[in-house]
Amino acid sequence: MIFDAEKEQKITKGQTIIEPTSGNTGIGLAMIAKIKGYKMIAVMPDSVSQERVSLLKSFGADIIFSEGKEGTNGSIKLAQKISSENPEYFMPFQYGNQASIKAHYYTTGLEITKQMPDVTHFVSGLGTGGTLMGVGKRLKEFNESIKIIATAPHPDDVVQGLRSIEHGYIPPILDLDKLDGRIMVEAEESFYWTKKVMETHGLFVGVSSGATLATCVKMSKRLENSIIVTIFADGGWKYLSSGIYEKEFSEIANDIDGKVWW
Ligand SMILES: Cc1ncc(COP(=O)(O)O)c(C=O)c1O
Repeated sequence: MIFDAEKEQKITKGQTIIEPTSGNTGIGLAMIAKIKGYKMIAVMPDSVSQERVSLLKSFGADIIFSEGKEGTNGSIKLAQKISSENPEYFMPFQYGNQASIKAHYYTTGLEITKQMPDVTHFVSGLGTGGTLMGVGKRLKEFNESIKIIATAPHPDDVVQGLRSIEHGYIPPILDLDKLDGRIMVEAEESFYWTKKVMETHGLFVGVSSGATLATCVKMSKRLENSIIVTIFADGGWKYLSSGIYEKEFSEIANDIDGKVWW
């Protein structure tokens, strides 16, 4: 998104970037802002994990908190308001930026076709939809029979950040007609598979990865001769303070309500 903005001269050195984020895109933007000499403001729910706040601060970003219970939809509204009051700020706006789709089309999607040419299904979590749209476009061009499946939360569940269309905001870059399916996951199964893959494969991943893995497991029970590719979007480091890796789901269920995992 930043390379694109520079190419199109939408941003100049020293300018301030502002972005609504559940954390991860904000951390990426803060890193690139630091390297390239921009200022960075991340607008995110006050319910995100402490690790996200610390990482953003380590990269020199300023943070403005939106109300946790409004999730990232609240961050979007607040960032849009601040940005309209400060026209000198540049907002990449990941939820509506075609460069996000392009990035996944040229990188993630291409990697998959090269490394897993026999893929039959692609599963990804739905945040902005950038991954699903970009990878989906690449895979459909490669082989139109490949199915693109979104992992979504049950609307009233506690796995925040998994974007639930039922919560009322459809990101402009997300074209629901381009998805072949949406599979709902419960928080408990997301946590279960997050821990399970650590035990079985030594992979220390974040909760959205447990959610996509739960989806793959469900699908694999119904499908024959399929090769499912999924994305583990981040590692577990940013969620350590939640205690999820050490405790049983029942022990932390009350503490995780309203936290952002995506
Ligand atoms: C951990 C994690 N998983 C999944 C996603 C969803 O990706 P996308 O925004 O491309 O839909 C994100 C987005 O930031 C994320 O941070």
